[in-house]
Amino acid sequence: MRQLIAGNWKMNTTTASAAALAAALREGVVGCDMLVCPPATQLVAVAAALAGSPVMVGGQDCHGSPCGAHTGDIAASMLADAGATWVILGHSERRAEHHETDAVVRAKVLAAQGAGLRPIVCVGESAAERSEGHHEAVVGAQLVGSLPSSFDGVVAYEPIWAIGSGRSATAADVEAMHAFIRTELVQLFGARGGEMRVLYGGSVKPDNAVSLMALPDVGGALVGGASLVAADFLAIARAAGG
Ligand code: 13P
Repeated sequence: MRQLIAGNWKMNTTTASAAALAAALREGVVGCDMLVCPPATQLVAVAAALAGSPVMVGGQDCHGSPCGAHTGDIAASMLADAGATWVILGHSERRAEHHETDAVVRAKVLAAQGAGLRPIVCVGESAAERSEGHHEAVVGAQLVGSLPSSFDGVVAYEPIWAIGSGRSATAADVEAMHAFIRTELVQLFGARGGEMRVLYGGSVKPDNAVSLMALPDVGGALVGGASLVAADFLAIARAAGG
């Protein structure tokens, strides 16, 4: 399975710095699938900078409705119109800061797919949930609640305690959770669930990417901080794709 290395730029970059970062990635295209998800206001500039390159562009969130009175929100069709072909949904920062429930994430997945976008649905447990031994129950419930039966996208396992902490999950933790997620996906979707890519996210850096990307059932990475430095993001992509 070809791996996907996705960069989540979060709330960083200006139009100029985003276009420069995109242009630098264009120069170093590698053998895996690559995706960058800039802030919505930078989508048009980044899509233009990457036009004709295999590096794909995505949003970081969308609304669950196709249009209407939702001040400050962005519809999936607007992301597509700006050049996006993917969208990250249910990131733990949105679940925490915007109180997004699994039902909300599920509605967003349906809206995204309705607009022709491929969703990356994030799941992951907190430090407390892991120390209490509830991590599989938490992630299992997120999968069941967030993924509609028509789901046709990618799952990203992002343990909350590993995000931005510089402390990635251990190989054993990643391997065990990805095996669990695979079993759940097959249970939910049958054979299709065996083919879905499952990304790992949480302090992925050039120095741990080779070992993380070599683990069974790791279909790529969702990268935060290191995706803002072109050389680091490209090094991670080389670890995945050759
Ligand atoms: P970091 O790579 O900065 O830990 O962020 C991971 C993440 O949240 C990607 O969505």
